[in-house]
Amino acid sequence: MRITLLSGFTATAFILAMAACGGGSTNDGPPGAKSTPPGAAAAETKAPSGLITAADITLGDIDAKMVDSGKGIYELKCQACHSLGANRVVGPGWKGVTERRAPEWIMNMMLTPDIMLDSDPEAQKQLEECLVRMPNQSLSKADGRNVLEFMRTL
Ligand code: HEC
Repeated sequence: MRITLLSGFTATAFILAMAACGGGSTNDGPPGAKSTPPGAAAAETKAPSGLITAADITLGDIDAKMVDSGKGIYELKCQACHSLGANRVVGPGWKGVTERRAPEWIMNMMLTPDIMLDSDPEAQKQLEECLVRMPNQSLSKADGRNVLEFMRTL
């Protein structure tokens, strides 16, 4: 009886120990799952200093191919919230946006709206008006640059 109790306890303790360690050791199995958070954190900490600056952008003559591609991205990912006119839908209309804003500001708003909304006074002012935080649309830098080219035609 005593032995049964003891072994019962031991078994329970063993199972608990397995469960406790299980988390750690099975996570070692797929390191991808464990390495994702550090990777994401690294991306986040890199991003603020990684904001695009004027030096990163060259604007030449309007490139029709880039405009086309940018328009496609707009229709897919931005149209739900942005008109091409002056009127606000969820976010501000894009007409004349390249005259109101510096290219790097636009790029940063497209690529990392979260950082802009947390740190940029102009973005925050818009948020106060729109009351919706623009979600990150996972644009690549090239995507963003193409959308910027499209914006230049508006
Ligand atoms: C769910 C709605 C939503 C989507 C989708 C969205 N935006 Fe926005 N966007 C906003 C809002 C709202 C603002 C104003 C700032 C704020 O409140 O977050 C904004 C602001 C902006 C601004 C600044 C405009 C200005 O006049 O200064 C740019 C540029 C912009 N968005 C680009 C994009 C691009 C590019 C896409 C698509 C890839 C996109 N947005 C998709 C909601 C959206």
